[in-house]
Amino acid sequence: MPFFTLKLTQNDTVEMIDQRKLPLEITYLELKNYKDVYNAVKDMVVRGAPAIGVAAAFGLYLGAKSINADGYEKFRDEFFKICDFMFTARPTAVNLGWATNRIKNLVIGDKNKSVPEIVKDIRDESLKIYNEDIEINRKMGFYGAKLIKDGATVLTHCNAGALATAGYGTALGVIRALVEQNKHVSVIADETRPFLQGARLTAWELMQDNIPVTLIADNSAGLLMRKGKIDAVIVGADRIASNGDVANKIGTYQVAVLAKENKVSFYVAAPLSTIDLRLGSGDEIPIEERDITEVTSFFGRQIAPLGVKALNYAFDITPNEYISAIITEKGVAVPPYKKSIADLFSK
Ligand code: MRU
Repeated sequence: MPFFTLKLTQNDTVEMIDQRKLPLEITYLELKNYKDVYNAVKDMVVRGAPAIGVAAAFGLYLGAKSINADGYEKFRDEFFKICDFMFTARPTAVNLGWATNRIKNLVIGDKNKSVPEIVKDIRDESLKIYNEDIEINRKMGFYGAKLIKDGATVLTHCNAGALATAGYGTALGVIRALVEQNKHVSVIADETRPFLQGARLTAWELMQDNIPVTLIADNSAGLLMRKGKIDAVIVGADRIASNGDVANKIGTYQVAVLAKENKVSFYVAAPLSTIDLRLGSGDEIPIEERDITEVTSFFGRQIAPLGVKALNYAFDITPNEYISAIITEKGVAVPPYKKSIADLFSK
């Protein structure tokens, strides 16, 4: 892959590709402190649930390094304030809280260590989260590829690729696994208004790897399904409730309803870290609302009447009855999800 999403550098900075600028400009930002990482997550320099989790982990390491404390308790109190701050960067993707809690628990367990030792442990843990993410995506690719037939045309919504993760991707990881098995697969990418993750990111990312991709306007999916041009849908997720309801990019629900109506399989690929077992259903998932200028303008240019009211929910919930299967690193969950998801966690 001729690009990377994010990494911790030798100089202890966080480098990430600026996804707001893709595909017209390929620029990498070098972030030197945790506030810069927080802003990068909030402003969607880096986005996608697993990538946000990894960015938070790296950001927390930069935060830990900046604390001036010689005793455990002072360090822990300062560090937990940074964790609370990082947690508020974006609300829907559970991976942010998941990564933050994982590092917080590490610090709780390190109470008999010196501050430099704890900071080193945080560094190691953040790199572990990064490396595990790529490994997990490859496992999901392995399981997911079994569900898609050779020669299939697969529709995807948003970007659940290498750009949304530490590398390889969740939904697009399944596509990559098929390609690695020499299967023929082509992708239909929804443009994904208003941030255009499909048009800007999925199209670009797949083209970098020479994977066939065709871009469509979001409102074309129904026609293509009705014409029999889509064999399967595969998307990622930002948070999944214990009953299998899925929060993903706004517009996913519409695609899922169309898929069911047209008897097209609708798959979700997501790591177990995206499943929030505390939640009984998708109704409990917080939905991020973003600035309405993302809707009323296009690339910084006003397109709607000045002063018009607008809504900009960034995610929606797809109820579990529309989902054919959820692909994870531990295997594939099928309905009824309450049981199949619980079984995966106990594997
Ligand atoms: O607002 P975004 O771009 O962060 O939303 C991303 C998505 O909805 C992705 O589909 C999801 O995070 C899965 S990424 C592997």
